[in-house]
Amino acid sequence: MTTRPLNILLTGGTGYIGSHTAVVLQEAGHCVFIYDNFCNSDPAVSHTLQKITGQPFKTIQGDIRDTALLQQTLETHHIDAVIHFAGLKAVGESGTIPVDYYANNVQGTISLLQAMQAASNQPKTLVFSSSATVYGDPQYLPIDESHPTKATNPYGRTKLHIEEILGDLARADNTWRIACLRYFNPVGAHASGLIGENPNGIPNNLMPFVAQVAVGKLKQLNVFGDDYDTPDGTGVRDYIHVMDLAEGHLAALNYLGRSVGADSATNIHTFNLGTGRGYSVLEMVKAFESASARSVPFHIAPRRAGDIASCYASTALAAEQLGWTAKRDLQAMCDSSWYFQQNVSTSTGR
Ligand code: NAD
Ligand code: UFG
Repeated sequence: MTTRPLNILLTGGTGYIGSHTAVVLQEAGHCVFIYDNFCNSDPAVSHTLQKITGQPFKTIQGDIRDTALLQQTLETHHIDAVIHFAGLKAVGESGTIPVDYYANNVQGTISLLQAMQAASNQPKTLVFSSSATVYGDPQYLPIDESHPTKATNPYGRTKLHIEEILGDLARADNTWRIACLRYFNPVGAHASGLIGENPNGIPNNLMPFVAQVAVGKLKQLNVFGDDYDTPDGTGVRDYIHVMDLAEGHLAALNYLGRSVGADSATNIHTFNLGTGRGYSVLEMVKAFESASARSVPFHIAPRRAGDIASCYASTALAAEQLGWTAKRDLQAMCDSSWYFQQNVSTSTGR
């Protein structure tokens, strides 16, 4: 079931997850508007999105802390719903510049909520990009949405604070419809190879690092620890194809559309978006080698501070309530990631 076509604003819409979601929403018949300050993305992405979908994307350059510009954007484009991707996301960096993380992520979200409240068209449907990092070190696996939360770094704490703010808002005003989506580990790229994850500098995350080793840009992978309590000793994560994740946002919007008129106890919802299956670092390396037909040299390095052994989602709630499950397998994740990496290297020479 789909809702009527909506005008949807994506904060952070030129970023990795936002850009893939923009394609899925536009192809589902919605009208997508992007709001981004390009602090971690390329403005050219909106032209690429147009190339992929054949439809224009209106992109507004702005910071989410600019409440007046946000309000004006919401009103001018008659926005019905907001998907809030904009934020800083590097766990390590959040430990060195925590105030910037709170200012950008928490203050930025408050500014967005103020703009939504003040806008004359009163858009009160919001999907928020949360993270599995809010669960901290798992007490049990798979992790369901009732698992206790305990963020272990400033980035994770910004996500928890925002979830709490959204909970307070939903309780105070039952006309809001809010979904907090806790992503597990997004990887892969759109089948066109035109958009994907292309971090500046040395990648922090496993998959872009592996892809850059395979393409010859980086020499070797450091595997952070092989003495975890996992089948091969390396860390296990729930990798989810970014296109599956993008489709999860469409499912969440449809769900919020169906929940109009629900009572105040049910106007905020939290869902895990993962596959329910964990893969180790070494399994990921092997799968990528097979997809790329390249070798990925690695050496075993010490554990990375703050890392956990294993993390994977219970997917039951999203399946039951959203009617959404991840469909693409590890091969599709690695194939699309490799295809994108080759395109990036060819087009940018890096
Ligand atoms: P990304 O960095 O590719 O995209 C974020 C976008 O937000 C960028 O385009 C950036 O320019 C923009 N942005 C940041 N601060 C802004 C501001 N103040 N005003 C306007 N625009 C701003 O990151 P992503 O991987 O696409 O992540 C999207 C969201 O999902 C983030 O909130 C992130 O914390 C969350 N998340 C990501 C992961 C992951 O592994 N990628 C996992 C869990 C949750
Ligand atoms: N790893 C390596 N070498 C690397 C990079 C990572 O061995 O160069 C290992 C890590 O130790 C871990 C696994 O690969 O075992 C995955 O690491 P990532 O950095 O790719 O992902 P994380 O699970 O640490 O964290 C990511 C995002 C967080 C998000 C979380 C959600 O960075 O923002 O997924 O589960 F919150």
